[in-house]
Amino acid sequence: MVPPTTIPEGRTDRLILRPLSLEDAPQIQRLFPQWKVVKYLAAKIPWPYPSDGAEQFIRDSALPAMERGEAWHWSLRLRTDPDQVIGLITLTLSEDENRGFWLDPNYRGHGYMTEACAWANDFWFDKLAQARLRAPKAVANRGSRRISQRMGMRVIHLEPRDYVSGRLPSEIWEITAEEWQVWKLLHPMGLAPAGKPVRAPAKSVSAARKHGSTAARPR
Ligand SMILES: CC(C)(COP(=O)(O)OP(=O)(O)OC[C@H]1O[C@@H](n2cnc3c(N)ncnc32)[C@H](O)[C@@H]1OP(=O)(O)O)[C@@H](O)C(=O)NCCC(=O)NCCS
Repeated sequence: MVPPTTIPEGRTDRLILRPLSLEDAPQIQRLFPQWKVVKYLAAKIPWPYPSDGAEQFIRDSALPAMERGEAWHWSLRLRTDPDQVIGLITLTLSEDENRGFWLDPNYRGHGYMTEACAWANDFWFDKLAQARLRAPKAVANRGSRRISQRMGMRVIHLEPRDYVSGRLPSEIWEITAEEWQVWKLLHPMGLAPAGKPVRAPAKSVSAARKHGSTAARPR
């Protein structure tokens, strides 16, 4: 288990994932309270959002959970503009809600969250040694579901859930540690610029299948 004091900063081709801090509150307060951001987030989020909502969330909920080693929050920034927060990604120890994220609507459609999720999945499975990752999603949340589909997750359960926008049909998505390793073998270069999966050479695919999992295939 990674102790909270050593939560690392993440780097991907285009992003910096910086452990969340109280200094991020003003930027998050400006970005987060938008209907396009909160609509399909859990109903526990106060709405209308209070004027000190971001500060309260970071100080009273996110940082204490990080210190207890129960949650890991990173602000997302572009490498080309490291002072500007563009979103957030969170990993949490819980039965069915292990990963959550949101992105400033101005930065959607570029694959940034897919890239952040790949880094966070590695952290979850490799550094936190978790056996599986689960995430609930409203069926109507097409952008979020596409990320799960693209990254080899499967639906394991259907149920209604409460969101800021009300009670909605929902799916629980899952990927196991082994399936994630297979997905990475099948996508050795991540995802192509257009979001199309890149096929691995046949040799590494058959090696991955020999290791017993057939669940993660490019879709
Ligand atoms: C969910 C959310 C983060 C998705 O944002 P996004 O920009 O669509 O996600 P990505 O960053 O992975 O980008 C994927 C899109 O970029 C495109 N793209 C461009 N380059 C890409 C690349 N290199 N890799 C992957 N996708 C790429 C994809 O084609 C895809 O577009 P499409 O959805 O039209 O098919 C965003 O809609 C959001 O913040 N929603 C509100 C909060 C929320 O609902 N969170 C989830 C709760 S379960």
